[in-house]
Amino acid sequence: MRLGRPVYSCSSGMRLPLLQPDALVTDQVRRGLERAGVFAVYVEDGLSEGIVPTEAISAELRDRAVRELGSTFSSIATAGRSTRIPGEQIDRLGGIVQAVLRELRQSGQVVSALMDLQAFDAHTLDHSLNVCVIGLMIADESLRRHGWVDGRGNVRRDGIEDRLEKLGLGLLLHDVGKLLIPAEILQKPGRLTDDEMELVREHPRSGLDLIEEGAFSSLSKVAVIGHHERIDGRGYPFGRGDDLHPHAQIAGMADVYDAVSSMRVYQARRPTHEAWELVMSLAGTAFPIDLVTVFKHAVAPYPEGVAVRLSDGRRGLVSRVSREHISRPRVRITHDPGGGSVTPYEIELLAERDVTILDTLQDLEGFDDAAPPPLPPGGSDERHEQALAGMLDGAADRDPVGAAAS
Ligand SMILES: [Fe+2]
Ligand SMILES: [Fe+2]
Repeated sequence: MRLGRPVYSCSSGMRLPLLQPDALVTDQVRRGLERAGVFAVYVEDGLSEGIVPTEAISAELRDRAVRELGSTFSSIATAGRSTRIPGEQIDRLGGIVQAVLRELRQSGQVVSALMDLQAFDAHTLDHSLNVCVIGLMIADESLRRHGWVDGRGNVRRDGIEDRLEKLGLGLLLHDVGKLLIPAEILQKPGRLTDDEMELVREHPRSGLDLIEEGAFSSLSKVAVIGHHERIDGRGYPFGRGDDLHPHAQIAGMADVYDAVSSMRVYQARRPTHEAWELVMSLAGTAFPIDLVTVFKHAVAPYPEGVAVRLSDGRRGLVSRVSREHISRPRVRITHDPGGGSVTPYEIELLAERDVTILDTLQDLEGFDDAAPPPLPPGGSDERHEQALAGMLDGAADRDPVGAAAS
């Protein structure tokens, strides 16, 4: 078995490839990857030939962004609460946001839930970048459809690029306040004490305090301070309601989506569309329906390369997702309903209206129906906040986050 895509490790702000694509995955390599915290990799096999999972941004830009963010984060981690991120550093991060926007426009890609798979400690840096990319895609689509509303209640369509850049900067730094929370609290398995929760809930506010006065626009600030607020008033730190700024709403959606998606990095058996469905289930409670509708059209539930089971029992790989019909992709059929392999052929789900995708599979042979294992300790620090905010109510029966925190 050969590796389909590189595997990265990330420590002290450096993102290093652990293995190159095409590397042979032997038992020894597999054990080494597990020791490095990598529990899932993409493999190249004959069935997936020609299917290239789409990336919203290039590997080069991801590297550059993670390096830049990494140096910002490590200066805070060493200097602590007394430090301020200087204006020049904010400007450099602004350059990253502009590059992300440029690439999103060029590629015209829908966001793919398949991000690079990597070791544990890459979580915060990659999470910040993912939230930026996903949030900008939602915002871009939303502004294109609905424009924005100014202080007098007028719908406007000017200055969109500037608004996107300011939002993107807030998204990149939305969790910067977490760097002040001791690691033993963030990575503590199980429930947090009231005092510990209090500390975690401080991070949107303390994040803003870490940025040099005057370096950050209010359109960036609202994304940082409001990313755990919910329109039903059940968020924090202020419990704001439906007057919540759209930038905060977008930050919250992108944050939930990436926090749950990234659990797949730790547990390959989690279904790919779990995070997507979770966001859908929060429409009208945590997030406004019109924004969730935008999300539905900007983020693909079944990314290219993912193995799926169809409602008629056939199995195959998602081979192409189009922006117009994001949840009805083209599928390369590899197995018949009885589980026997067939000469691969492709179908358009758009044309076969009575066939739907029932589930995603870790393994096309399909022996992976067991429930996913519980999260490993430290698997995702976001789970505490999510459970705290109560935003997963109603989705708890199939929700890994609530279960892990209980
Ligand atoms: Fe957060
Ligand atoms: Fe976050």
